[in-house]
Amino acid sequence: MAQTPSKPPPPRAAGVIGWPIGHSLSPMIHQIFAAREGVDAVYLPIVAEPGFEAFARAAGALRDIGFKGVNVTLPHKENALRYAAAASPAAKAAGAANMLTFSAEGPYADNSDVGGFAAALSDVLKAGERPRRAVVLGAGGAARGIVVALKGLGLEEIAVANRTPDKAARLAADLGAATAPWEKRAERLAAADVLVNTTSLGMAGEPSLELSLDLLPETAIVADIVYRPLETPLLAAARARELRTVDGLSMLMHQAVPGYKAWLGSRAAVDADLRARLEATLGGGKTR
Ligand code: ATR
Repeated sequence: MAQTPSKPPPPRAAGVIGWPIGHSLSPMIHQIFAAREGVDAVYLPIVAEPGFEAFARAAGALRDIGFKGVNVTLPHKENALRYAAAASPAAKAAGAANMLTFSAEGPYADNSDVGGFAAALSDVLKAGERPRRAVVLGAGGAARGIVVALKGLGLEEIAVANRTPDKAARLAADLGAATAPWEKRAERLAAADVLVNTTSLGMAGEPSLELSLDLLPETAIVADIVYRPLETPLLAAARARELRTVDGLSMLMHQAVPGYKAWLGSRAAVDADLRARLEATLGGGKTR
C-alpha cells in the first residue's frame, strides 16, 4: 500500500522591517548563513512606513503567519522596543531594538547592534589590549548603542560630541558618559584610544566629516558605522596614517549573528568569504 508522503515542514521564516528597505544587505547575510549549513529558511525585506502603527501592523502580521522574528532597522528601532512585551538589558540601555523574537510570551526585544559593534571592535584589538578612552561623534540612536557597547568593553572615559549639544548632554546623562564640544572634536583626539563616527557624515550623498586625525595617537582605532561607501573619507584618512580601522560592514555582519541563531539556524561565521560577497554587492565601495 502506498504511503502518503508526510508534508515537509515549512521553511523557517524571518525578515527585516524598515523604510526604505530595498538596499538592505541583511537578506543576503542570512541567506548565506542558511545556505552554508543547508537550513531551509527565508529572510525577507519588509517595508513599513514611519510611525508606530505601521510598524505594529507589520510586526503583528509577520508573527501571525509564523515568522520566528524580525530584525528592525531605521526608522523603527524605537518602535520595536515600544512594541515588545519584554526587552534585554542592552535594548533597554540603548533605548532601541534591532531584533524582535516572537514567542508565546509575546515579542521580545533585543539589541544586537551593541554586541555587533563590540565584536567588530574586538576583531582588531591585540591580545590583552584594553582601550580606555573613546570619542564618539553623534548622539542619535546609533550612538546610544555604541556607547553601551564601549561601556560593556570596559572603556572608562567616553566623550560624546554632537552638532546639537543638548542631545549629547542627554545621551551622556542617560548612559554615564561625558560630552565634548562639536567644534573642538579634533582636539579631543589627542587622548583617544578609539574614535567612532555614528553620524551620517561621510555617507554617499551626505557632506563629509571635517576632521583632522593628526592628534590621534598612532595606537588608536578608528571606527565608522557608515558602510556606503565602505571606505568613508574618515576611514581613508585613518588608513593613510596606518591606524587600525573598523568599518560599518564589520558591525553589520556581526549584528546579524544573534538573529540568525535565534530564528533560522545554529552556525553563523563572520569571515572573509562573507565579507567578500557583501563587498561585491556593495560594488564600487570595495577598498581592500
Ligand atoms: P541614527 O539613529 O542613525 O543615529 P539620527 O538619530 O538621525 O540617526 O542621528 C544622526 C546623527 O548624525 C546625529 O548625531 C546628527 O546630529 P544632530 O543631533 O545635531 O542632528 C548627526 N548629523 C547629521 N547630519 C549632520 C551634519 N550635517 N553635521 C553634523 N552632524 C550631523
